[in-house]
Amino acid sequence: MLCLGIESTAHTLGIGIVNEKGTVLANEKSTFTTDKGGIHPSKAAQHHVLMYPFVLDRTLKAAKIQLKDVGIVAFSQGPGLGACLRTGAVAARSLASLLKVPLIGVNHCIAHIEIGKLTSGFKDPITLYVSGANTQILALASGRYRVFGETLDIGVGNFLDVIGRAMNMGFPAGPTIDKLAKKSKTYIELPYTIKGMDFAFSGIQTKVEQLVQSGKHETEDLCFSAQETVFAELTEATERAIAHINKKEILLTGGVAANSRLQEMLKIMSKERGVKFAVVPMSLAGDNGAMIAWQGILEHRAGYKMDDSRVEQNWRTDDVDVNWI
Ligand code: ATP
Ligand code: FE2
Repeated sequence: MLCLGIESTAHTLGIGIVNEKGTVLANEKSTFTTDKGGIHPSKAAQHHVLMYPFVLDRTLKAAKIQLKDVGIVAFSQGPGLGACLRTGAVAARSLASLLKVPLIGVNHCIAHIEIGKLTSGFKDPITLYVSGANTQILALASGRYRVFGETLDIGVGNFLDVIGRAMNMGFPAGPTIDKLAKKSKTYIELPYTIKGMDFAFSGIQTKVEQLVQSGKHETEDLCFSAQETVFAELTEATERAIAHINKKEILLTGGVAANSRLQEMLKIMSKERGVKFAVVPMSLAGDNGAMIAWQGILEHRAGYKMDDSRVEQNWRTDDVDVNWI
């Protein structure tokens, strides 16, 4: 049985094909980017509508299959931007009805965790999920993926993109900041906000924006200092979660998982704590269709039947009963 998964929660339209064993046959995407400034939800949605036929065609070619070989259609039902989510939902509904196959709407954040478990072989990790909109520490407890810690304001990727915009970088700014930070060792004092296992970034954002405007600092030093501060917050909160809920594995995923310094900090902490650490490979860590397809396989196997395919912009991870494990 092959599952076709459609991801469209934010700026990425992704389509993936995965089989029942978890082999990824194809994982194609098109991401809406800008040279300057952030993204507008309706522009991203327009991009998804325009690119859909091309991405679908590329996906089927890469998987060397035909549309009729698809046995399940899965899509990201939430959380995400309404306009973007709806483009994926419409595409998935029409494909499923055309092919007369089951339609499965999955939770985007949970799909990130499950594809990470597949690639790492971890059975019961603490997941640090760091992306543009989401920043959460998740782990399974009493049948649901519970949020043990999360951002109290904006996602860490969003934080990086916003300060990047202030420094005249295009979107996404995360990779550029990662690169420039390596050129500096000069730490500029920034606010550090952590409450238990929760953390916040908007105070640091305001401070960095003020420092940029002052014109007194090198961009490299600002990048280095911003990274050191927010990644220390994330590492500290994850370490606290490990101590608190007694798990033995740490999984890092989401688009910001690409960051070399964040990986390094978590690796050191995991070693000191004597727990295993894995990073999800980049093609499957950022938003992608294959993770949606794999989640579709898992839920279909567990007998899930969908009764409402409306998108849920604010769908929480801990609203979902995990009955596929
Ligand atoms: P979600 O919908 O789950 O919030 P997303 O739409 O933000 O996800 P992702 O692909 O998961 O999409 O993540 C994109 C984010 O990752 C952007 O904010 C980008 O700046 C950031 N990013 C990418 N590469 C790096 C890097 N090397 N260092 C830091 N941040 C990075
Ligand atoms: Fe994501």
